[in-house]
Amino acid sequence: MVYQVYVRSFADAGTHDDEHGAGGEAGVGDLPGITSRLPHLRDLGVDAVWLTPFYRSPQHDHGYDVADYRDVDPLFGTLADADDLLATAHDLGLKVVVDLVPNHTSSAHAWFQQALAAAPGGPERARYLFRDGRGTGGDEPPNNWRSVFGGPAWTRVEEADGTPGQWYLHLFDTSQPDLDWRNPEVGDELESVLRFWLDRGVDGFRVDVAHGLLKEASLRDQADPGAPAPGRDEPSTEPITEPGSRSMVERTDDDEPMWDQPEVHDVYRRWHRVLADYPGDRMAVAEAWTRTPDSMARYVRADELQQTFNFAWLLAPWSAPAFLEVVESSRRALAGVGREPTWVLSNHDVVRHATRYADGDPARGLARARAATLTMLALPGSAYLYQGEELGLPQVDVAPEHRQDPSWVRHRGADGEIGRDGCRVPMPWSGQAPPYGFSRGTGQPWLPQPDDWGPLSVEAQTGVDGSTLELYREALRLRRRYVGRPLDSVLVEGDVLHLAKADLRVVLNCGEQPVALPEGEMLLASGPVTDGMLPPDTACWVSAPPRGR
Ligand code: BGC
Repeated sequence: MVYQVYVRSFADAGTHDDEHGAGGEAGVGDLPGITSRLPHLRDLGVDAVWLTPFYRSPQHDHGYDVADYRDVDPLFGTLADADDLLATAHDLGLKVVVDLVPNHTSSAHAWFQQALAAAPGGPERARYLFRDGRGTGGDEPPNNWRSVFGGPAWTRVEEADGTPGQWYLHLFDTSQPDLDWRNPEVGDELESVLRFWLDRGVDGFRVDVAHGLLKEASLRDQADPGAPAPGRDEPSTEPITEPGSRSMVERTDDDEPMWDQPEVHDVYRRWHRVLADYPGDRMAVAEAWTRTPDSMARYVRADELQQTFNFAWLLAPWSAPAFLEVVESSRRALAGVGREPTWVLSNHDVVRHATRYADGDPARGLARARAATLTMLALPGSAYLYQGEELGLPQVDVAPEHRQDPSWVRHRGADGEIGRDGCRVPMPWSGQAPPYGFSRGTGQPWLPQPDDWGPLSVEAQTGVDGSTLELYREALRLRRRYVGRPLDSVLVEGDVLHLAKADLRVVLNCGEQPVALPEGEMLLASGPVTDGMLPPDTACWVSAPPRGR
């Protein structure tokens, strides 16, 4: 089980009395803060921690714009702090996975600065995707691609003599120029970055935008961008009805010359060999928003990466048949390459699942989130949890003046897109008022925390029967016993999902009426269970004698 730490929002070792705390700026999480809170993760029962990017970066996309892959941003600490975090985690029995951002650099990266200073056509520009514009005077972008964060995917530069010049590609923000992975220098550099962190002892990598590295070589126009693609075999995006982060998940274009090109797999074959050079089970997990279970499975063929995120459950509506379809189709596709799927319900790019499932009723959202998590944790394969979900944190409606996500900045509310800040609000650790122990002192964290989060803090939930934190702790403890057992069956009756392993029954009631519990000893339920009945929006694990004996 891997726990995602969003570095800015986990724990700030600084104080608000100094402007600059231990790790950097007060009010922003940092590496020493994470190190000090690792015992929480050990007590929770996680196996590995994934840290979002902490490298040198102007922070236009909160670290997903890397200016130096081999150094820690002063905001978060130093390389010595990273070493200290690794050593402490390993002492506590936790593995550490770091984020690798290979699709693009920051525009502040030395390579991009050299490219801007160099003349068109030179080797400095060949590390990125610089092209002449179309139309009179090259005034039009080289093609019609759109940025994931809104607006065109191309920005024009000014040449050294002050004249309007070439255009560069950025599938995300203008401050995130895409690298040209057809240039061998790029692959060599990123291999050296992998080795830099492997040498320091990291256990693995989460590969950002893993499906984007190679673009169709022609950089041709996309056919009818934005047009819906009827009849595609892809997950529904319907449940993302709450505001925020739709751009990350909505893939409505039929023709995608910028994503999931066959050549990208050569990169992962090479990285497989790099990882194999190191002792222990070093691994990498692909963040690949692919269109189908089969295209997802291609990232984890035997000679490629070890895991790939399976976003299908996260995209599915609250419905037992939809969950059944996700479990069956993901397992079928992954079985074809000899792997189990991964499972994830929340991350730093999507609306938290306690809010996604709420349909306007926060209590229902939390009940469903707990039930979905308990069910997911019974499935074979790695599960990924996002910080704060163990507290039942909801999505926060961050006021426009506080929003920082470049997706908000570029969309400015177009299509209802308000950005991803709402799932990134700093963790409440203790106390009754912000900053809830996130930072020492009394000042405000980088995103304001709601005034009513006191009862959700780690301190408030610890040892409290039925709290979300204790549910997660118990579920992760039991999971160690059951996760390795094969899934014997998964089926739906009405709107109730049933999973069966040798001596475990899991029932998830997505319907509106209570349903009878299976016979056996109740191990854990996500909500109150009375009179042998499982209420709506609730899941349970029951220990039952193996069938047919
Ligand atoms: C990350 C996002 C980031 C984007 C660009 C993603 O998929 O998860 O948070 O904005 O890549 O790097």
